[in-house]
Amino acid sequence: MSNHLSKKIEKIKDKLTRSLNEATNIKILENIRINFLGKKGLITTLMSELKNLSIEDKKKFGPLINKLKSKVEEQIKKTKENLIKKQTKAKISKKENFDVTAYKTNQLNGHLHILSQFTQEVEDIFISMGFEIFEGPQVETDFYNFTALNIPQDHPARDMYDTFWLNKKNMLMRTHTSPAQIHAMQNTKPPIAGIVTGTTFRHEAVDASHDIQFMQCEGIYIDKNVTLANLFAVTKKFLEKLFNKKDLDIRIRPGYFPFVEPGVEIDMKCPFCKNGCSICKKTTWIEVFPGGLIHPNVLKFGKIDPEKYSGFAFGFGLTRLVMLKHNINDVRLLHSGKIKFLEQF
Ligand code: DAH
Repeated sequence: MSNHLSKKIEKIKDKLTRSLNEATNIKILENIRINFLGKKGLITTLMSELKNLSIEDKKKFGPLINKLKSKVEEQIKKTKENLIKKQTKAKISKKENFDVTAYKTNQLNGHLHILSQFTQEVEDIFISMGFEIFEGPQVETDFYNFTALNIPQDHPARDMYDTFWLNKKNMLMRTHTSPAQIHAMQNTKPPIAGIVTGTTFRHEAVDASHDIQFMQCEGIYIDKNVTLANLFAVTKKFLEKLFNKKDLDIRIRPGYFPFVEPGVEIDMKCPFCKNGCSICKKTTWIEVFPGGLIHPNVLKFGKIDPEKYSGFAFGFGLTRLVMLKHNINDVRLLHSGKIKFLEQF
C-alpha cells in the first residue's frame, strides 16, 4: 500500500511539472488548478485515501501529502504571477509597436460635401468669365434685404419671403443673396462683375423640395451700356459649362421682381433628354433662374448713378441647381448626414 502511495505521489509531481509547462494562459492554469486541487482533484482524492491507511502509514504519508499539496498550491500561484507579468509586457509592447502611419486599405476618406463641391464649380465658371467673388452677411438688416432692393415697408413683395425676424429691431436672416448686391455696389466702383454664393433662410414648411435653409447664387454686372443681351450671353455660357453641353438653348419669359426692370425668367433646354423626360416633366424646358436689368432705385441705393451706368442681375437657387444636375429628389438628404448618400459625390 505504502509503495503504491509513494508511486502516486511521484506521478502527481511529474504531472504537475508537465501540466504547468503547458499553462500558456490563465484559463488553462485555472483548469490545471481544478484538476489538482478541486473537489474531485488528484490531491483531494489522494487525501481521502489517507483514512484507509494504518496508523503508521498515516504518520508517514500525512505530512508528505500535505507537503505535496502546499507545493502544488505554491507552484500554481507562481505560474499565475509569471503569466500575468508576461501578459502585461505583451500588452505594452503591442502599444509601443503600434504604427499610427501604417496604411490601412478600404478606410473611409473624407471629401467636400456636394454643396461645397458644386459651389466651387459654379464659382470657377464665373471666375473663368471674369467675375469676382463677393460676400455678404447671413444676418441682415431690413434695409439691405428689402428696402434697398426697392421693396419698401408695406410692399406686397415682402410676402414672397417668409422671413425669420430676429429679436433685434429690423434684423433678420437674409431671405435671399440679393442684399449682397447692395454691399458689392457700395464697396466697389463700376465696372463691377461679381457673384455671391451663400446660405439663405426662409420660414417654410420643410418637405422634399423646401428647406428652411438653402443656398443661392447672385450675380451682377454693372458698367456703361449693359443690356439684357449681356445677361442672356452670360447665362447661356454658364449653363453650357455647368452641364457640359455645347450650344445649350435658353429661352426668356417676362417675370416680376421689384429690384429689376425689366425682369425675366430664364429657361434652358433640358440637358438630359431630347424629347421630354421626368426631369423636364416632358416639356423639354427647365426653368433655371430669374434676372433682369437692375432697377434704377437699386443702383441709387448702391450709390451708383443710374444715368451713367446700367447693369444686370440674376439670382438662382444653388441648392435647386445641384439637385437638378445630380438628380437628387429630396432636399432633406443634403443636410441629413447620411454617409451612403454623401459618398456618391
Ligand atoms: N432674390 C430673388 C429670390 O430669392 C431671386 C432673384 C430674382 C435675384 C431676380 C435677382 C433677380 O438678382 O434679378 O427670389
